[in-house]
Amino acid sequence: MPDTYILGIESSCDETAAAVVRSGEKMISNVVASQIATHKPYGGVVPELASREHLRAIVPVVRQALAESQQSYQSVDAIAVTQGPGLAGALLVGISYAKALAFALDKPLIAVNHLEGHIHAVLLEERQKGNRELAFPVLALVVSGGHTHLYLAEEKGAGWTYQNIGHTRDDAAGEAFDKVAKLLGLGYPGGPVIDRLSVHGDPKAVKFGAPQIKHRDRNDRGKPEDTRPHFDFSYSGMKTAVLRYVETHGLKTSIEARRKALAGIAKPKLEDYLANCDRETLDLVASFQRAVVDDLIAKTLAAAAACNAATLFVTGGVAANNELRQSFEREAAQQGLPVYFPSRPLSTDNAAMIAAAAYPKFLAGDFAAMDFSAEAGMRL
Ligand code: KG4
Ligand code: ZN
Repeated sequence: MPDTYILGIESSCDETAAAVVRSGEKMISNVVASQIATHKPYGGVVPELASREHLRAIVPVVRQALAESQQSYQSVDAIAVTQGPGLAGALLVGISYAKALAFALDKPLIAVNHLEGHIHAVLLEERQKGNRELAFPVLALVVSGGHTHLYLAEEKGAGWTYQNIGHTRDDAAGEAFDKVAKLLGLGYPGGPVIDRLSVHGDPKAVKFGAPQIKHRDRNDRGKPEDTRPHFDFSYSGMKTAVLRYVETHGLKTSIEARRKALAGIAKPKLEDYLANCDRETLDLVASFQRAVVDDLIAKTLAAAAACNAATLFVTGGVAANNELRQSFEREAAQQGLPVYFPSRPLSTDNAAMIAAAAYPKFLAGDFAAMDFSAEAGMRL
């Protein structure tokens, strides 16, 4: 099989990304233009601004990804693009551009589910390291700003199958990190800040109860009872617990002062955050992170045992979290399970994962029709 070069394009949320990947196993280039600065003043992603920024960035980002890979529009074998899930307006920018390129260049177009992309970020890097010995089935935890999903993944012939065995009932884990950071005046995005501050606090200082999920998922109402084991997540209760702590411990004034002080610094460093956080806040942040990490690990390992998973993948923006990585490695080893993470640049949104996930589809001739559109709520 000759080498296949796929140009991947990703624009589902707040990163405009393009990458070239060879035969699903070698990242040749990977360009990500982040919109964090645009959304920071609002404390979260503003959909209209995201679309506008994608429009501005898409052409230069794709050009740079091609230039860095020493490929050209003409030399790539196919164009892959994220179809969903994500923000409809943001997805449409990448899709429209990918369609235009595919049409003008007469190249095959491949539509990729963003969640499948996150799973293939792990596969891409393991293959790149020469690891071809993954044991199946793989249990993949996709944990990001929009998703906390568990999939049982298997390679079937050239393609992949995924069975969803758990998802969040409310907030995704990354969303909870972002909302708690916003609540505490720590800015946006919250995950990386809470990650760095947590080592300076006592994770046992504040008790968070484990999330209780007693009811059926309201999305499943009316459907026949599903008797397969499910491992669902819930993080909005932890966010509310942080809010209650703030109210009962009179932290509002110091939070406002911190918000103002940090807003006045263009790119706050760890020392700036620490200078504006008292012990109580550091303890609260560390305890929140510990509660989320413990819950993610407990549910994933319970699911792995119930499904006889042979390998664990942990991927998505929250997989960049240091405590999550260390604790997962320690606890999975105790169950005799190998656990793989993408490198940090491939944990958060990128297009290399989209180009990698497209490769099996390229081999199978699974190409998108020119009239396909964005699917904001796309499932895997
Ligand atoms: O995968 P991603 O880039 O975008 C989505 O598909 O959502 O994930 C972004 C999310 C944000 O919620 C961000 O706060 C979180 O990942 N995140 C982290 C860390 N780095 C990014 N959460 C915890 N610790 C981190 N180090
Ligand atoms: Zn993502």
